[in-house]
Order: sequence, then structure tokens, then C-alpha cells
Amino acid sequence: MKADKENTKNKIQELIEKINAFDYQYYVLDNPSLSDFEYDKIFKSLVDLENKNPELIRPDSPSQRVGGKALDAFESVIHRQAMLSLNNAFEDDELMAFDKRIKDDIGIDEVEYAVEPKFDGLAITLTYENGIFVQGATRGDGYTGENVTHNLKTIRSIPTKLNHTNPPKLLEVRGEVLMLKKDFELLNQKQESLGEKKFANPRNAAAGSLRQLDPRITATRPLSFFSYGLGICEPNLNLKNHTETIQLLKQFNLPISDLSSSVKGVKGLQSFYDKVLKLRDTLSYDIDGVVYKVNSFNYQNELGFVSRAPRWAIAHKFPAEEALTEILDINVQVGRTGAITPVARLKPVFVGGVTVTNATLHNEDEMIRKDVHIGDMVSVRRAGDVIPEIVRVLVDKRPKTIKKFKMPTECPECGSPLIRIDEAIIRCSGGLICPAQQKQSIIHFASRKAMDIEGLGDKSVEQLFNVGLINGLPDIFKLELEQLVSLDRMAEKSGQNLLDAIEKSKATSLPRFIYALGIRNVGESTAKDLAGFYGDLDEIMKQTEESLQIVPDIGPTVAKSISDFFGQRKSREVIESLIGLGVCWPKYDIKKSASGIFATKTFVLTGTLPSMSREEAKSIIEMNGGKVVGSVSKKTDYVVAGSDAGSKLTSAQELGVKIISQQELLKLII
Ligand code: IVH
Repeated sequence: MKADKENTKNKIQELIEKINAFDYQYYVLDNPSLSDFEYDKIFKSLVDLENKNPELIRPDSPSQRVGGKALDAFESVIHRQAMLSLNNAFEDDELMAFDKRIKDDIGIDEVEYAVEPKFDGLAITLTYENGIFVQGATRGDGYTGENVTHNLKTIRSIPTKLNHTNPPKLLEVRGEVLMLKKDFELLNQKQESLGEKKFANPRNAAAGSLRQLDPRITATRPLSFFSYGLGICEPNLNLKNHTETIQLLKQFNLPISDLSSSVKGVKGLQSFYDKVLKLRDTLSYDIDGVVYKVNSFNYQNELGFVSRAPRWAIAHKFPAEEALTEILDINVQVGRTGAITPVARLKPVFVGGVTVTNATLHNEDEMIRKDVHIGDMVSVRRAGDVIPEIVRVLVDKRPKTIKKFKMPTECPECGSPLIRIDEAIIRCSGGLICPAQQKQSIIHFASRKAMDIEGLGDKSVEQLFNVGLINGLPDIFKLELEQLVSLDRMAEKSGQNLLDAIEKSKATSLPRFIYALGIRNVGESTAKDLAGFYGDLDEIMKQTEESLQIVPDIGPTVAKSISDFFGQRKSREVIESLIGLGVCWPKYDIKKSASGIFATKTFVLTGTLPSMSREEAKSIIEMNGGKVVGSVSKKTDYVVAGSDAGSKLTSAQELGVKIISQQELLKLII
């Protein structure tokens, strides 16, 4: 009997290995080794055996790729190591400056770079424990992402098990999920035949598919994956450079780009750029540039990080795609803070992966500078997620009958005078009496990165506002089902869904709430900085314009906007009523601060650490938002001490600063 079980176990193992090997050949190497018929037969034998012996189902079995149930929402995952972003270079001089700074900082004449394409998809991290894929998450804000493990399991080019006899205990693989161009075309044909909405571009299709709550839907979407780096690894693999990382990823059977290579100096970078730009259209996936990384890890550690990006890497972006179209009209939009923006209404044109119908003209000065008129033929540009803009007017194509656009002197929405105070921006002076500003603040409050109220977008806010059901933020939480069902296009089910979403949004987080308030100059990142620094809203509200400036990254302008906002009685009343209506958030834990778990923490390194250089330790601290300084003071949060530590350790002991070992430092992260 026991021998039978052992036999079945071995048989299962053999089938899994066969299927995994086939998946690798098919999905990673694009070189199938079995016919579909044979593959299906093997897969079926595996499923049959597993059905009869459920106790023998292994987590890395290919049958488990579509195992998960539909979720209500994705859980958050705090990244063990931050997923940072890259600085961009568009012009040659920016590239030269990047290379020069590196040469100067390290003190060498020529730098070796690892070069690779910049995949236009979504960054994700995969966690492998003892070689088995256990968790996958989106990048999110770089510090906290969403747990999309079940969806990632459906991607056949992501191995459920690493190809290695002695895999590391813990390994994080970083890479990009995307949809191949051909798969995107097929998906859109399918969507069309089913009468479903088509996706604008492969990136949107990949994002929409990865964020499905039901993995069975994701499984029907043809997603691909490319790896380009590692996060935490235990034990340390002692890799010397990025090239070795790429080789290791390949050995593990993870997909990598065949364009990855290494070059020397700025000339090498430029020829790689030219080569890839030429190949761009022939590639099976979309790219929006190339990435250069200083190859040597010693040099990378020496260079470290600044703010949220490494100083040892840069993305060299391809020029944004441009298209010609006509300006049908120009009118102005009133923003949340009253800023008046002229907007060109365009004859629809497909550019940069989407159909563009509007382009921002930024402000009056910009319009004059570009000499833009109604009726002009213009070249428009859209790159990535940025708002489309007009690059230039084709003056020689200008028709005889163009119309000059004149900036209004009164707000088109509330009639208040428009004012211009020493900046290029003209604002409506109506403040909260201006319906446009009110509507925009409500839309902003409900938006995804703010309170995230699903179903409360531009259109529904417009409708609720126009019928007088919502005038200010607190009204959102006073809505009732009877009121909603009396509205056009609102059935009982959709009304209830909206109320449920509103109810759900009440439990929020401090940074989201601060961001949602729509304080001028306070974006998502500043909201996080504030929450991370003070941990408490009352504390933030108590600060003065001067005291706010001790928060890293907050300067005089932002500090003034914050103190002006909280200084207004109306703002305080709105906050109080929102809290009274049930909006709440847990105490903000500095550890969760989106500026990294070490945000606002200062470290001093001393002595020889057991298994990493000081540069490496510095890099790890900086990647997680901390600061490393040279000398110990009362303001130091931690002294990381190794063997033979000298006077810094003594000062730390005298000043009562917390002293930790390398191991304790790593524990704080993992
Ligand atoms: S490396 C610390 N390599 O670009 C450096 N990123 O702006 C981390 N991306 O979020 C990134 N291709 O989504 C790296 N070959 C590549 C990449 C790449 C695309 C994306 C990635 C990241 C964003 C950074």
C-alpha cells in the first residue's frame, strides 16, 4: 500500500516536471516541444491522479494555476524591499550628465552598463520560498502593493518552481507583466465579438487583466512576464553584477529579454538605444525606452539612492509618438483649486495608444508662446500616462479663417472674477461658491488614490451635484437609497452598490484622507510624508507654516498651502463632520509610511559588519527611506555596529541611542 502511494507520488512528480518543462519551452522559449494533443493527455493524467489522491497535490503543480476563488478586494502587501522607480532621460545631454556623474562619483574613466528594454507593462514582485512561488504583488506606491498571487499563478511563463537543485530560502524576483501585441489583438477581437469593451492598448489590457478579482477571468487573458532584477535574497547569493543576475534568472527558467546585454561608456549606451529604437516595431511587446544600470553591484552600492530612485540607473525614453489633428474649439476648465486651464477640443486622433479628443494648453502664456488658434492644424503628443499636449502649430497649414481665443475675465461656472497672482495660473476667485471647484473637489475626494469610492466618478458627481443631493464632501455620507433610485439611470442595485462603496470607503488610511482633502500642492506623496512624519491628523493641524518645513521634502510653498488650509474654519468643520459621519483610519504606523519603513529614521554605521559592506548596508537603509549620516547625535535613531566599532559606538552608548547589529537591521525590514 505504502509502496503504491510512493509510486503515485513519483508519477505525479514526473508529470509535473514534464508539464513544467513544456510550459517553459512553449511560454518562455517560444519553442513548443509537444503537440497540444500530447500536452492535454499528460495534463489530464496529472489531474486524474490528483483527484484520486488529493493529499498529493503539490503547490507547484500546474493544475493549481487556476485555483483561487474570486476575492472581494486585494489584500495589501508591504514590500520587504521597496520597489523604486527610475529617473528618466530624454535628451543626449541628460544621458551625458548621468554618465559623467557616475564617473566622477566612482572615480573611473569608463563605466560598464547593463542595458535592457524598458517594458511598457506593470511592475510586480514574485516571492519564492525554497524555490516555490508563494506570493506575487503589484508595485503599488513602491512600498505597499496588492496581493495578486492567484492572478500571477495563471501566467504560464512564471514558473511555479524555480529550476534549481538548491534554491535560496527566500528570493524576490522583480519584473514586468505585459500583454504581447499579438495576444492583445486577439483579445480585442474576442472582446468585440462578445460585445464587450475593447482595450485601448496592451498596457491597459494587461493592467485590467491583472487586477481582476476573479482569477478565472485572468486565466482567460493571455498575459506574459519578463524579469529584470532581484529584491531580497536569503542567503545572499554574492552576485557581482547585474549581468550575473540576469544569467541566474535565466537559469531559474524565468523569462528574460534577449536584448539584455552590457556595453561600455556613453557611446555604448547610444548605440544600444539606436539599435533598440530601430527594432521597436518588430518586437513582440511594447517598450517605451531602454534602461541602463551600472553593472557592478559594488559601484551600485557606492552610488546609492536619491529620493525614490537609484543613482545607478536611468530610463532613456523613446520620443513620445506624435500625430496631426485639428483644433475644433478651445474652452476653459475650472480645476479643484480654481485654476483655469485652457483646453483644446480636437478632432479625435489615435496617438500613443489611445484616442485623444482634448489636449491641455496649460495656461495663457503657453498659448501665446505656441501661437495656438481655433481651426489650426497641430501636432499632438501623448506619452505614458501624461495628459496629451500640443507640441506645435503647423503655421503653413493655417486656414484663412482661424478664430482667436480670448481668455475669459470671469469664471464660466460661477461668474466670479478671475485673478492672476504672480504666477502663470489664472484662478477663479469664487472659492467654495464656485460649483466647478466644488464638483472637482468631490470628484477628487472620491477618486481611486483618495477615498476610492467606486462608482462615484465625474458623471455621477455631476448628476448628484446638479440635482442638489451633494453640495459638499459630508453630503456623500448622507445619501440614502430612496434619493438615489429616483435619479435617471440609477436602479436599486446600482444605488445600493454606490451606498456600499461609500460605506466601505469610510475605513480609510491617514495619507489617503489627507490627500482626499485636496489641499493645494499636496499630492499623494506629500500626504504620505505628512502622515509618516506626524502619525496623527491633530498633530498635523497644530503645525505652523514654519514647523511644517522640518518634514523632509516639504518646502515653504507646500508648507504655506497646508497651514492656510487647516487655518480655515471651513476646512476644520468639514473634517469634523466627515469624522462624525464615520470616516476613520487606524493610527498611522510609521512602519507603514509610504516613504519606506525607515522614513524619517537616521542611522549611523560603525565597525565591520559580518556579511555586508557598509556601502551595502547604506544602500539597504536608503532604499527603505532611511538616512545614513556620519556622526552620532541625539537625533540619531539607530547605530548599526559591527566588530571593532570605535568612538561612534561609545557616543551612542553615552547618548542612549539604540544600538543594533546587522542581523537586527535586516529583521527590521523582513
Ligand atoms: S529596474 C530600482 N528595469 O520602470 C530600479 N524597471 O520607472 C527598478 N521597468 O516600476 C526598476 N522595464 O515597472 C527596471 N528593464 C527594466 C524595466 C523597468 C520596465 C519599469 C518598472 C518600474 C519602472 C521604473
